Formats: sequence, C-alpha cells, structure tokens
Amino acid sequence: MQELSQSPTEPAFVQNPYPFYDRARAAGPLFRWSEYDMACATSHAAVSAILRDRRMGREVPLERAPEIPQHLAAFYACEAHSMLELEPPAHTRLRGLVLRAFTSRRVNALAPEIEALCHRLIDGFPQGPFDLLDAYARQVPVIVIARLMGLPESRADDLLAWSNAMVGMYQAKRTRAMEDAAEMATQAFCDFLAVYIAEKRRNPADDLISELIAAEQEGEKLSTEELVSTCILLLNAGHEATVHSLGNAVRTLLMHGHREIDAACVEELVRLDPPLHMFTRWVYEDLEIFGQRFSRGDRIACLLGAANRDPEVYPDPHRFDPARRGPAHLGFGAGIHFCVGAPLARLEMQCALSLLMRQCPDLALAEAPRYSDLYHFHGLERLMVRAF
Ligand code: HEM
Repeated sequence: MQELSQSPTEPAFVQNPYPFYDRARAAGPLFRWSEYDMACATSHAAVSAILRDRRMGREVPLERAPEIPQHLAAFYACEAHSMLELEPPAHTRLRGLVLRAFTSRRVNALAPEIEALCHRLIDGFPQGPFDLLDAYARQVPVIVIARLMGLPESRADDLLAWSNAMVGMYQAKRTRAMEDAAEMATQAFCDFLAVYIAEKRRNPADDLISELIAAEQEGEKLSTEELVSTCILLLNAGHEATVHSLGNAVRTLLMHGHREIDAACVEELVRLDPPLHMFTRWVYEDLEIFGQRFSRGDRIACLLGAANRDPEVYPDPHRFDPARRGPAHLGFGAGIHFCVGAPLARLEMQCALSLLMRQCPDLALAEAPRYSDLYHFHGLERLMVRAF
C-alpha cells in the first residue's frame, strides 16, 4: 500500500481536496494516509465494498474501547446509544424502531411546510450582499427537523448551538476547549429533550418523538436514554450535513449558471461536492481486501468525496452534469448505516433549491466562497450572495 502525506488542514487541501483524492486513487484502491496513520479507500468499488462488508463496522471493538475521560462522560454516554456507533443486533433494533416512526408518509407530508418555510425565508432576504448560509441554508434543516420531531421552532438557535458544539468532537483539530463545549452541550441537550419526552409520554402528538415513544418491535420499546440519543442523532445529523449540502449545492449551481432543479440534479450536486468526506470502519476479524491484509482492531477510512469522483464509474467526474446517470453516489453512505435521513435530505434540497432559483432569478455570488477548515466536514465558511 502506498503511503501519502497530506495535512487535512492545509489551506489548498481544505479549499479543494479533490486533486489529492485523484493522486491517492491513482495509487490504488487503498493507500495509507500518513497524517491519520490509517489505510483509506478511494475508489467507488473499494468504498462501497468496505461500507457493505459486515466483517467491519462502526462500533469500537471491546479491546480498543478508549478510556472515557471524566470530562466527556455525558458525551460518550449519549454516543453509547446512538445507532450510528453500534452494530447488529443493537443497531438493527434501534434502526428498525426509528424507521417505523420515520416513514416516507411522514417525510413526504412535509413538502408543503418546507415550501412555506422557504418562501418565508426568501421574503426576508435583505437588499445587498448577505450570507445565504445564515439566512437560508442553516435555517431550513433545523426548523424542518425541529417541526418533524415536535420541538418548538423557537428553540432552533439552541439546537444549532448544541449541535455545532457536539459535532466539534469529530473534527481533525479538536482541542480540550472543544471537548468541554461538546460535553456541556450534550448535558444541556439531554436535559432539554428529557423534558419534551416526558411531556410527550403524557400527551402524545402527531410528531416523530411521539411515534418513537410508541414504536415497538417484538415487544421492545426504546428506553429513555435511547430516545434521547436517537433524538440527538437525528437533530445533529439532520441539519449539519444538510446545511452544507445546500451551501455546496448553491455554490455549484451559481458557478455553473444552472437553475433547473430536479431529482437527478440533486443527486449530482451531492455526488460532486458532498458535505461529509470521511467515515471509518473498525476491522473485526483478520481479513484481506483489495489485496491488502488487515487485522482485528485495525481501522480503514472510506473517502466518500474521492469515491464520488472515481473516473471508473463517472466519466469526466469533476464536471457538474445535472443529467448524469450511473451508479448511486456514496454521499449518503452504503450498507447498514446508509443515511436514515436521505429521503428527508433529498426533499429539503429539492424544495429549498428549486424555490431559491425560482424566486431569486438574479441570485449571484457576491464574493468567492471559501470552505471551512473542518475536515472531514466539507462545507463553506459563508456564502455571500446578492438576491435582488
Ligand atoms: C444531505 C444531507 C445528508 C448527508 C450527505 C448525510 C450523509 C450520511 C452518511 C454518509 C451516513 C453514513 C455514515 C457511515 O456509514 O458511517 C449517514 C448516516 C446517518 N444519517 Fe445522514 N446525511 C444527511 C442528512 C441526514 C438527515 C436529514 C438525517 C435525519 C433527519 C440524517 C440521519 C442520519 C442517521 C440517523 C444516520 C445513521 C444511520 C445508521 O447508523 O444506521 N442524515 N448520513
């Protein structure tokens, strides 16, 4: 396996990681990334195979479980019940219960509300340059997920702040201050949700939390800790990735002068510039894959951003082609952890982008957008535009 060095915080890489991915993919389906001291998969075939291979998974093998520092007790207690950090059978049970509540009927019924929300936000756009991330991309996902779950829209700012602080734990340049902020946010988030869950146990309503409370599989229900963790996971995953998918998508659309949004265009936007670039898998048994041997306890990273631009699968992969056909991209993952929220994210993107382009025919960039130095997230610092 070839070893390659690339700082994930180097400014040129942050702005455009794709040339490095091309170089890495040319080294074979797997390379060793020195800065992470980890094997990484880059081709569409390798990433797809690893994400689907049950000999690997997201749950930390027992012997590799880190000592949990006291100052992060609440954060890790919350993660311990997150389906994203579990494997079968615990994952199957939690995911099954969530899918029972998170139905396509419930998601599709949101379309008129999402449209009304987008209209309201667009009506509030100022004259002159403004940050579309703050005014639009950050608002839509958090308000939609809060409404879907039956939480008050008026607490959207708190949800955003808690989520941002918790997501800091996954960044390449995490500091002790970020850990403290994540821990405090977890405690505040859990306390906030415990109150709503208790209230919805007493007075169920037509919302996702009430359905999660009622969801039952083979006589089993979600415990309160599982309910809290699941709500936090849905709230965090439910807007962070969508915010940046929207931001990256608007950047691509404006740079290419493309204004027609359909389902194929949304897929192409996520393929071309997904907001989450790296997910890792633990190896559970000694194995050989793509000609490389791994032992139990090793980790392999899957570079979704690289797989999505694999020329073996997507001709002219760096080109934005809104009519592109071809195999599914890996921006929403694959296998048993495939994004639970993909139908909602697709609906939000389709509604929010179509309305934006229709209502603001003169929408234009007011400055060159720059990506934030937050690898493995790939999202913009801000997106200054003019709407009128
Ligand atoms: C465009 C926006 C989104 C993107 C690009 C995205 C991407 C992903 C990816 C790549 C994974 C798989 C991670 C892995 O395999 O390790 C994932 C999992 C997940 N996503 Fe999303 N996501 C988005 C929006 C959402 C939304 C809106 C929700 C919920 C409301 C959501 C909830 C989840 C959950 C719960 C999981 C874990 C599933 C499991 O472990 O079985 N995501 N997402």
